[in-house]
Amino acid sequence: MNPSPTEAWAHRCFVVPMERATIQVGSFTRAGEAHSDAAGLAFVLDQMAQRPAVQTLKAWAAEQLAPITGETAVDVGSGTGEEVAAFAELGLRAIGVEPSAGLRAEAVRRWPGSRLQFVDGVADRLPFADDSVDVLRCERVLQHVEDPAGAVREMARVLRPGGRIVLIDTDWQTLLVHPADPDVLRRMVDAVRSQSATPHSGRQLREQLVGAGLEITGETAATSLDPQADARQGFASLMRVQAQQSGAITAAEGEAFATRIAEAADRGAFHLSLTMYAVSAVKA
Ligand SMILES: C[S@@+](CC[C@H](N)C(=O)[O-])C[C@H]1O[C@@H](n2cnc3c(N)ncnc32)[C@H](O)[C@@H]1O
Repeated sequence: MNPSPTEAWAHRCFVVPMERATIQVGSFTRAGEAHSDAAGLAFVLDQMAQRPAVQTLKAWAAEQLAPITGETAVDVGSGTGEEVAAFAELGLRAIGVEPSAGLRAEAVRRWPGSRLQFVDGVADRLPFADDSVDVLRCERVLQHVEDPAGAVREMARVLRPGGRIVLIDTDWQTLLVHPADPDVLRRMVDAVRSQSATPHSGRQLREQLVGAGLEITGETAATSLDPQADARQGFASLMRVQAQQSGAITAAEGEAFATRIAEAADRGAFHLSLTMYAVSAVKA
């Protein structure tokens, strides 16, 4: 049977590179980047951006940041550059900081224009002077960062007094699947969590902001629910492949997991959810 488009991207983005012993599932780390397929990563990001929960948090972030024409806005870990383009459209000086050369090239291809810039950099060493940024966002990036507290201190350094910031991230402990054997599922979720440098980033966002001396102004959360069709593809199949490859589960356990959720989906009874958190703050 031919793979579905989603299975194809999962394979292209994660499985194939994993076979080359490079990138891991869910990983956008610098180490993986050198070998990864930027078009594949961009495809994954595009899929994620269509999720209603992701769109809800992006809209909430834009509201909290309340960007004003002429301000300088930075998106840390800007991926394919959509949020940088949105800042530029509002008349801001918009800069995306992105360590992946492939994703920077894709962003430039998608969003040519003099108001936008995509620069090389990492969250914990931002290429900006102290107190020089009015608005800063960082979405689903800190989970890939070894020292998220240090990275948020760095973001606070570059924000000007009165500058606004929003952090968005997943907490991989919130990954739920039904129906599934509890022991097999626990091992699969552990395998997913072990892929992230900071898998519980979502619950730590307030801690990072307060620790950096910033004043919290708001918080929210959104849960992404997979459609029934995704029982046979998407993240569920990716989890299974990854858990098998890492040795967390056997091939037979993977097969039983896939069969059970596929049967459940045929009855309309499949559930896969993941919660993301967003926190806003201001520099006094
Ligand atoms: C899941 S993607 C999110 C991209 C984008 N923020 C979005 O919402 O679509 C994670 C991004 O973080 C970038 N990244 C990984 N490690 C980083 C680091 N240490 N500093 C900044 N960006 C990083 C990756 O290259 C990737 O573009």
